[in-house]
Amino acid sequence: MVLRGDLRAAANAGITRQASASAFPGKITLGGKEYQKDNWFNVPDSIANSLTRELHNTPDHPISITRSIVESKFPSPTFKHYNKFFPVVSTHENFDSLGFPADHPGRSKTDTYYVNEKTVLRTHTSAHELAIFGANESVGYTCSADVYRRDAIDKTHYPIFHQMEGARMWDRRKAPGGNIVQAVWDDISNLPTHDMIVEDPNPPTHPERNPLQHGHSHDEAEAIAAHLKRSLELMVVEIFSRAKTAAIAADPNYHDEPLKVRWIEAYFPWTSPSWELEIFWQGDWLEVLGCGVVKQELLENAGVPSQLGWAFGIGLERIAMLLFEIPDIRLFWSQDARFLDQFKGVSSDLTSLKRYVPFSKYPACYKDVAFWLQPSSSSTTSAAGGLAPVQSFHENDVMEIVREIGGDVVEDVRKTDEFTHPKTGRKSLCYRINYRSLERTLTNEEANEFHEQVRAALARRLGVVLR
Ligand code: PHE
Repeated sequence: MVLRGDLRAAANAGITRQASASAFPGKITLGGKEYQKDNWFNVPDSIANSLTRELHNTPDHPISITRSIVESKFPSPTFKHYNKFFPVVSTHENFDSLGFPADHPGRSKTDTYYVNEKTVLRTHTSAHELAIFGANESVGYTCSADVYRRDAIDKTHYPIFHQMEGARMWDRRKAPGGNIVQAVWDDISNLPTHDMIVEDPNPPTHPERNPLQHGHSHDEAEAIAAHLKRSLELMVVEIFSRAKTAAIAADPNYHDEPLKVRWIEAYFPWTSPSWELEIFWQGDWLEVLGCGVVKQELLENAGVPSQLGWAFGIGLERIAMLLFEIPDIRLFWSQDARFLDQFKGVSSDLTSLKRYVPFSKYPACYKDVAFWLQPSSSSTTSAAGGLAPVQSFHENDVMEIVREIGGDVVEDVRKTDEFTHPKTGRKSLCYRINYRSLERTLTNEEANEFHEQVRAALARRLGVVLR
């Protein structure tokens, strides 16, 4: 869930692929509102049509149940809960207001869905921070929403997922004697303690890696960080004690491992210092959230310069997958009663939460597709040289074409081979697509039909040469 800071995206930024069958210019209706498209438009129909599902607001849906559990650790009236923000936002809200540099890879069309040059499908719930801080309706808040990112296809990645943002502010003008430090420590003393194992080797701030903000005293940053970390640890304890109860209900011999988390230094353009929290789960460290002390510039721009405090963002799917033992992220979108009925009644009684019981596992059907990329710029002589135009290529474009054609029948897509021809310099790639429905057995003919369409679309839309 970290913002895509990877160079992979940066290297391929600037790609201009038309992702949808709908042509531009023209208008598009998204969630009942009309938008002008331009040549930045890259929202496929499948995404445009899912904009109104709102799984986080669907009673008895695991995403909504997970939201309620997290919200229960951030109770009103201290925390107001915003769950209805519209998914189409401006690039100012999603990036600029948070201090994203102009060349940040997260802005690239290979990673983000654009409606037009200035309008995107939000890539994170932080897109609403400026507005919520500005509205100043409570000292804290949570905000859950569907978020959208172009990404890989596998059991834990889906182009639409859900996040919850949370924040807590203190006002210098309201703290007795203007003493924020005392006010924050007083609040910490009112938080419960816990006995979870926490690894936190980091100093509260670090001059290069995690700097103290100009205008914050060391004691202020330290107190806010302590409140932030304790609050989020308590949330994790809550989730895992519920997961454990459900696990024991499913298996009385369930072997309980002590819960362990660790804090890692991180970077977000609008917080400093910043951290990520990882949970040790079934033998691996899993990153579950990002957080930090909110940059004062953002609060000044929101019109609340006397406030300071923390914010975090957590991915709800990942938490729900742990909580319910849901093995595949596509299940959240299933309309199959064998899935949905397992959670009936849980929203109104969270103690009735049970682990998901897989109703069936259907056979996998693997198909490979191999292709040559068009010559790269290094092997292109000149226009007069007669070589095909330079083709920019990004793996996310392959993912999207497969998803558009195969829909939720595709379980994962993996690159299995890559080589460059020693003489021609041409590059060849091979992807293995696993066609497997969650709901029924797919015949080989059906898989072949999908696969033929995928091959044709790759050639037509990406200009690759099939092998
Ligand atoms: N929006 C960040 C993400 O998607 C998480 C985050 C939220 C980090 C708030 C800091 C503060 O990864």
